[in-house]
Amino acid sequence: MDRFMRVAGVAEIKPGKAKFIHLDGMGIAVFNAGGAFYALEDCCAKDGASLSAGLLVGTMVECPNDGARFYLPTGECIDPLTLRSVTSFRVRIEGDEITIERKETKKPARLYPFPLEHGHTQARGAYHYLS
Ligand code: FES
Repeated sequence: MDRFMRVAGVAEIKPGKAKFIHLDGMGIAVFNAGGAFYALEDCCAKDGASLSAGLLVGTMVECPNDGARFYLPTGECIDPLTLRSVTSFRVRIEGDEITIERKETKKPARLYPFPLEHGHTQARGAYHYLS
């Protein structure tokens, strides 16, 4: 199954700019760094600022809050080195559209009927979760 999904048109994101998108419950920043497109989790590893509002410098984005810098191809934090990386997404250009690869999502827990105990009847809609 192709896991790439369209997120924007190439013309929508000008060089040096970013677009915020929402995919699978996650905010993602899609960047145009001089014609090359990258996608990172839109949440700075320090205090959660929106990286899509950051400053693009070459293949880095600088957080708008305190200036942490992340490498666009990998999401690695390169300054300060003590911060964790942010999630990066594979980007593919298909014609004039930008697509990004969706991450595997954890399967939802399976639902089983609640176990019956002696002397009790099972209430409708009572379930417990098994992971
Ligand atoms: S929130 Fe990004 S450096 Fe502070």
